[in-house]
Amino acid sequence: MRLDQFVSESLDLSRKDSKELIRKKEIKVNNIVITDSSYKVNINDEVFYNDQILEYEEYSYYILNKPKGYVTSTSDPQYKTVLDLMDVKGKDKLFPVGRLDIDTTGLLLITNDGALSHELLSPKKHIDKTYLVKSLNELSDSDILKVKNGIMMDNKMTNPIDIKRIDSLTYEIVISDGRYHEVKRIFEYLNNKVLELKRIKMGNLSLPDDLKEGEYIKIRDKEIEGIR
Ligand code: URA
Repeated sequence: MRLDQFVSESLDLSRKDSKELIRKKEIKVNNIVITDSSYKVNINDEVFYNDQILEYEEYSYYILNKPKGYVTSTSDPQYKTVLDLMDVKGKDKLFPVGRLDIDTTGLLLITNDGALSHELLSPKKHIDKTYLVKSLNELSDSDILKVKNGIMMDNKMTNPIDIKRIDSLTYEIVISDGRYHEVKRIFEYLNNKVLELKRIKMGNLSLPDDLKEGEYIKIRDKEIEGIR
């Protein structure tokens, strides 16, 4: 990769500004000042700006706290999409991993890493997804027991479902297969109804408590490794 591209992507600068830094002798590669923007950076090179080592990440990962009213796709003729909430470089290559319904809020992973997305959505990979549910009616102990071992959905048993009462109308539910409208259908099966649904965890990734709806944070390659 060219040095100006490396600097621009790792410092989130325009190509013009990164060329300017290089020209001003502020960038070193392996302790040598390089003023040629077209210099080719190799995988083992260490690039420094002000003696700070620059990390280059091939892929980007964000956790977005999805608000209601946004669809989980990259474009939509009718609704705003979750990408409309993001203002980041390389946005045109980003996409959401998996789906949340338009009225569901909470943790959504947004990335440009197609292989990760493919992996996480594979039916063989059982990633735990934790939701907070506000329900219309209280669940009985027998309702809770009924779903624990999984229920029949689309002629196939779901994986075991973990569900616990937080208060009379609030439940934490953990599912590991991502059937269409799965949580809502579990509550319908119990002759109940989901009034509010928020995803708070996906694998080892948790929705940060201080991340408001509509906000997002960038996460590092290393943090994503756990979910793999
Ligand atoms: N289950 C649902 O019913 N809806 C979601 O958005 C996610 C899981």
